[in-house]
Amino acid sequence: MTVMITGGAGYIGSHCCVTFLEAGFDLVVVDTFENSSRESLRRVAEICGRSVAIETVDVRDQTGLERILRQYDCTSVVHFAGLKVVGESIDLPLDYYDVNVVGTYRLVSAMRACGVHTLIFSSSANVYGEPVSLPLDETHRTAPMSPYGRTKLIVETMLQDVAASDPAWRIAALRYFNPVGAHESGLIGESPLIVPTNLMPIICQTASGQRPSLSVFGTDYDTPDGTGIRDYIHVVDLVEGHLAAHRHLAAAPDGPNCLTFNLGTGEGYSVLEMIRAFERASNRTIAYESAERRPGDVAVSFADTGLAERTLRWTAARGLDAMCRDTWNWVCKNPTGYRA
Ligand code: NAD
Ligand code: UD1
Repeated sequence: MTVMITGGAGYIGSHCCVTFLEAGFDLVVVDTFENSSRESLRRVAEICGRSVAIETVDVRDQTGLERILRQYDCTSVVHFAGLKVVGESIDLPLDYYDVNVVGTYRLVSAMRACGVHTLIFSSSANVYGEPVSLPLDETHRTAPMSPYGRTKLIVETMLQDVAASDPAWRIAALRYFNPVGAHESGLIGESPLIVPTNLMPIICQTASGQRPSLSVFGTDYDTPDGTGIRDYIHVVDLVEGHLAAHRHLAAAPDGPNCLTFNLGTGEGYSVLEMIRAFERASNRTIAYESAERRPGDVAVSFADTGLAERTLRWTAARGLDAMCRDTWNWVCKNPTGYRA
């Protein structure tokens, strides 16, 4: 069984490759490498003792995707390829609609043309927008506050319509909370080519001396220490959630054919709690200063993970200390990421 992994060289995709290779699947990665490097896939092979096939094709290239689906006899697709920076999506909305929406449209069209009907899609907790109630469950209303979040919601809606049109489809949209961490080997981790804006990469840069301090965006939220609370999830737990979803789609052919799951831990940690946990893991002091709230940020976001636990029999196993330890191990072994 060959699985096509779009965006498989990226942060989450490369960890997914390890988990799926270890589960016995053959893989073909489709990536343009615009935010990743081939080195991640070389390291995946080093971890697993087995390599993935690599195709440098854009997800908007339907003809190219059809050729790959046929050539490798793919039976399913895990779709990570996309643009993911919320702030950038406000400045470049058409780029986000093009890659995220048109890219998924072309992918699904190619799958239909080739008779491949099983798809796992990377969605985001960003689709919920400002929480009305917590924890966020999958029935919480959706109201994304950025073009990025809207592209994810549009794709989810398109996939529901596609699934309703033909019972052969088996689709899962997975709404990630805040992925952090790295493979415990320290061989693969987050090494973006874009300038990071997420908290964990910025904590890493501060701990390793690449920046003098970090700004804590908002210290006056209605939270115990005044800083924003998020549901951080270890990337290996996250990709194990994909494997569980893949198994579920294969095992329950008569159930609903388009499912949506939160992937989080259900635990929320504040920015200051994250800084302290990382100080413990790294044995470094992390300098920070208070700053204004970042536009578009919500105060608190964490998942109700019950649906994934009950349906997929999956639960995140790695806690905050493991998330920080594995991130720091990756950073220490690869201070410049995959760049030599
Ligand atoms: P990433 O940027 O590390 O990986 C994305 C991969 O897609 C990269 O390898 C990139 O080169 C590739 N790519 C981009 N445009 C492409 C195109 N047109 N054709 C083919 N390949 C292309 O990002 P990630 O953190 O691994 O995220 C993967 C997915 O998960 C994305 O869809 C993202 O929106 C979603 N997601 C990520 C987070 C997060 O915090 N990392 C949170 C929620 C959802
Ligand atoms: C961001 C994205 C979200 C995406 C998620 C995971 C925004 C508004 N949302 O969410 O769509 O799904 O990343 O990729 O960008 N923080 C600081 N200082 C920093 C950076 C962050 O204090 O330098 C704080 C933030 O205010 C927030 C927390 O750390 O409270 C986490 O921030 P971040 O990692 O950017 O994730 P989200 O805001 O949850």
